[in-house]
Amino acid sequence: MSGQGPVDQRLRLQYLAAMEIQAWALRSLEPDSGLPDAGSDAAVAPALPVVEAPRRTDVSQLDWESLQTAVSGCTSCELHVSRTQTVFGVGNRDADWLVIGEAPGKDEDLQGEPFVGRAGQLLNAMLQAIGLKREQAYIANILKCRPPNNRDPKPEEVVCCEPYLMRQIELVRPRVILAVGRIAAQNLLKTETPIGKLRGRVHSFRDTGIPLVATYHPAYLLRSPLEKRKAWQDLQLAVRTLRDQSL
Ligand code: URA
Repeated sequence: MSGQGPVDQRLRLQYLAAMEIQAWALRSLEPDSGLPDAGSDAAVAPALPVVEAPRRTDVSQLDWESLQTAVSGCTSCELHVSRTQTVFGVGNRDADWLVIGEAPGKDEDLQGEPFVGRAGQLLNAMLQAIGLKREQAYIANILKCRPPNNRDPKPEEVVCCEPYLMRQIELVRPRVILAVGRIAAQNLLKTETPIGKLRGRVHSFRDTGIPLVATYHPAYLLRSPLEKRKAWQDLQLAVRTLRDQSL
């Protein structure tokens, strides 16, 4: 993706156009390093208290079908009351790329599939920008149920849902995890570090050792299009990380 020759350069410009990044954006208009804007996706998160997980079925050995059935009948947290349906995850179950977002929104709750609304369209464009079709990746969320009015997930909801995501990660065995947004990145990495500081480098996902790259959430990028440039850098970092594994 370094874009040396004229063909590479043309491709790069096409990719940037797919992400609606203006190749001519002025440096002076670009915001500061990783400093978060107040009230934005990049803002500092409140402390995440430690919460005990309630007793529930062990899903750590389930196959895909049984796992999906377990998720669809889940009543472990209060979100089951207000959901239309659970949103399990979608895509290639043998994918190199695992994309993890926050939680279903209104569209996802109605359609039962992650990232199908406006943010999803931008996510598709981001994946396309690195030569990936949506169907080639596996896409899931930290939460399988929509929080009312798209509020942030509560720590106890994250704890209830985590075994499902952990099992999905074990089953997919991705070669790289792309955590999109503050909530996904902080919960996966178990940190309160702002997303502006988590992005731009390669992390290791807990004891799996799977490389994890964090980037901004597409919904945030829709509100702050100048940050797309950093998201593009993060995507390229993830591509390089995956490529380096094959060397
Ligand atoms: N935002 C997310 O984080 N996930 C979705 O599935 C949709 C929007």
